[in-house]
Amino acid sequence: MGHHKLQRFAENLTFPNLFQVGFEQLEQEGFALKGRWAEHFGNQNPITLELGCGKGDYTLALARIHPERNYIGVDIKGARLWRGAKTAVEEPLRNVAFIRTRIELIDRFFAPGEVSEVWITFCDPQLKKPNKRLTAPRFLDTYARFLAPQSTMHLKTDSQELYDYTLNEVLPERDVEVVASTNDLYNSSYDGEAKLTQTFYERMFLAEGKPITYIQWRNNQTKQQINK
Ligand SMILES: C[S@@+](CC[C@H](N)C(=O)[O-])C[C@H]1O[C@@H](n2cnc3c(N)ncnc32)[C@H](O)[C@@H]1O
Repeated sequence: MGHHKLQRFAENLTFPNLFQVGFEQLEQEGFALKGRWAEHFGNQNPITLELGCGKGDYTLALARIHPERNYIGVDIKGARLWRGAKTAVEEPLRNVAFIRTRIELIDRFFAPGEVSEVWITFCDPQLKKPNKRLTAPRFLDTYARFLAPQSTMHLKTDSQELYDYTLNEVLPERDVEVVASTNDLYNSSYDGEAKLTQTFYERMFLAEGKPITYIQWRNNQTKQQINK
């Protein structure tokens, strides 16, 4: 492993806004802030997650615009999270945190109803393994364990396949309301938060001339259904 990466991993351990808990520790002790994120942030403001946040571009940009909300970026790659966590410490953005974990384990970090919004930004479309897509039913079931009633979900992707799969195969089978969808965001009349900022990968895809797709939906589950 490069010296540069090791330095970043070492610095990650010093950031008060970056949480990394190994699988063993999660199994044995659980996550201390589960159900207690309000104590970490020092307020009861609603929480937004960015899944597969990479360097945390969306998390940081939205947190600057919405100081009345809290933002948590999630990724497995420590060297990428380092960028987001360092920026949030330096600015400082007190409404930002990061979790280093596999998204498969994300329900270990939040109590039922603790999260009200999720952004999925340019995740791997997993063309050969539908079950690994972050909008596959098993993942949406995992998120439902901690989402508040009427929570909002956003998917931004360059993958037409992932867009079609989510919009036409997954969402029609669920109790959700699609609020917005476009297979070419920047040539659409949509005028909302998805156009506010571009992530690192998004800028690369745009430079290649790829259209960006976007879906926003609202989960209609009642709390009772969520807790099943
Ligand atoms: C293509 S990058 C996009 C990063 C960022 N959202 C952007 O748009 O610039 C996908 C990110 O998802 C993360 N990722 C993919 N699968 C993951 C998983 N199962 N758990 C945690 N992170 C994952 C990768 O580490 C990577 O940083």
